[in-house]
Amino acid sequence: MDRRVRDDDEVIVSPTKLFRSEAGTLLVSGFIFSMDILNHLSARRFRELDDLLAFVSIYDDTRRTSAYRSMLRECADTIRGGICVEGGCGLGLFAADMARLGAQKVYAVEQNPILASLARARFDRLPKNISSRIELVELPLQRFRPPVHVNVLVHEFYGQLLYDEDLRVLDHLKFRPDHVLPDGGELRAGVLSSHVYQDKIVTPEAIGKLDGVLVSGLFEGEPGDLRKPVLRWKFGRGLSEVKHDFRREKGDLVCLGLVVTNKGKQVCRAGQSSNWSYVWTKRAGNEMGFRFRKGEPGMGMECRFVWKR
Ligand SMILES: C[S@@+](CC[C@H](N)C(=O)[O-])C[C@H]1O[C@@H](n2cnc3c(N)ncnc32)[C@H](O)[C@@H]1O
Repeated sequence: MDRRVRDDDEVIVSPTKLFRSEAGTLLVSGFIFSMDILNHLSARRFRELDDLLAFVSIYDDTRRTSAYRSMLRECADTIRGGICVEGGCGLGLFAADMARLGAQKVYAVEQNPILASLARARFDRLPKNISSRIELVELPLQRFRPPVHVNVLVHEFYGQLLYDEDLRVLDHLKFRPDHVLPDGGELRAGVLSSHVYQDKIVTPEAIGKLDGVLVSGLFEGEPGDLRKPVLRWKFGRGLSEVKHDFRREKGDLVCLGLVVTNKGKQVCRAGQSSNWSYVWTKRAGNEMGFRFRKGEPGMGMECRFVWKR
């Protein structure tokens, strides 16, 4: 539930779906409007269009785009003359960037047919010397067998809980790139007091109902330093839980935030990049446990969360 408070008494409560895999969101003058499909469609058409709405909204997040562009520029020497892949290319911004940076060939791989056709149309509008080096491949990345060795794979498969979108795909590739950009990520936690967030609606009783529930975008603002990693993903090593203990931490609320890393350095993170919201839950123990398993087709990974009491 997304709550925007205009003044003391006027509270807008809307069942906003902030998960990118469920619906698109649009930020206009500080208010988030969700984009929901309201009429009946076949299940397949619904999924394709729902994904389209979810993923086009990432382009509102200019900080994410510029952080990725800086990362690509930093790796220009590796990209120049190389065989590159953008896995899950969406509209193909980074595939085009790699061609501009001098890649010999870029495979832009996208499984959603609508996004693939939009990317193809965008590539066709690029100058010939760029577009001639980009090939759109309409396939799930895990089924893509490139005809030649791949030097660089760029992706953005991060979910708000790190592994709840498509990172798993990178652990099941049919090829072994020399470099994966970005190559890592963490989900970091901070314990804090709910005191500052309490009002007439968000009472301690209401917060108590969130025991065992992870809610994205529940509160606005910076929650302070999220210092404790609880999950880590590294290309080639996969996902691991990070041992942590909140026993010395004071507070009844836990905030989680994604940090995208490359070679151990932060690329972008929740809060700074509007694409990933902070995730909140009532603190009900000293150690968190996460399990991920494949969800419905096209729905990314499903997260099971428990407090290890
Ligand atoms: C978060 S968007 C990133 C788009 C683009 N790479 C960017 O960073 O601007 C993820 C994209 O990956 C696509 N995708 C998700 N899983 C995929 C898979 N297994 N194979 C190919 N594409 C996938 C989605 O349809 C979506 O377009």
